[in-house]
Amino acid sequence: MILDVPELSLVALVGISGSGKSTFAARHWAPTQVLSSDFFRGLVADDENDQSASSDAFDVLHYVAGKRLAAGRLTVVDATNLQSHARAGLVKVAREHDVLPTAIVLDVPESLAWERTQARTDRTFGRQVITRMHRDLRRSLGQLAKEGFRKIHVLRGVDEIAAAEIRYEKLF
Ligand code: GTP
Ligand code: MG
Repeated sequence: MILDVPELSLVALVGISGSGKSTFAARHWAPTQVLSSDFFRGLVADDENDQSASSDAFDVLHYVAGKRLAAGRLTVVDATNLQSHARAGLVKVAREHDVLPTAIVLDVPESLAWERTQARTDRTFGRQVITRMHRDLRRSLGQLAKEGFRKIHVLRGVDEIAAAEIRYEKLF
């Protein structure tokens, strides 16, 4: 499956914890192109899992995203992006820099994400968190277009995620 992405865009990965966002990002982009919420929580709070640091972490993430876009650099945001207000911050930064916001949704079964989460040492939350995220994801699918995402790719299941290739669209 070919995913068309404008060569200068802000790409928001969207998916529940354990859906494979960070794995997908590492496969398709250089580390410096990917701004992850974990990294920025670590930067501002010394703890990638400190949810109370999210607000400060996203402030800094948006700031860096803006600097990158101003310099004409494709930027990928590796965060769950399951809440409308979280995505609104990204659409705003993209618009401020006349850049197209793109969403790539990784839609995996809740049961698979939970299996993976249990095998991880860097995540300790319970099943109900995954369930809530999955509900948020279902709701998100119907909201992305009206929020301003100009390109929306939805990858359903592990096979589509594994087969995905990015194709860059020239702007001019
Ligand atoms: P959060 O950062 O918690 O939101 O999760 P994430 O969406 O970034 O998921 P991540 O990429 O960290 O993947 C979660 C776990 O699933 C990791 O242990 C990965 O190694 C594993 N995983 C991710 N993608 C795949 C895949 O395509 N195949 C297999 N076998 N494992 C995968
Ligand atoms: Mg991750």
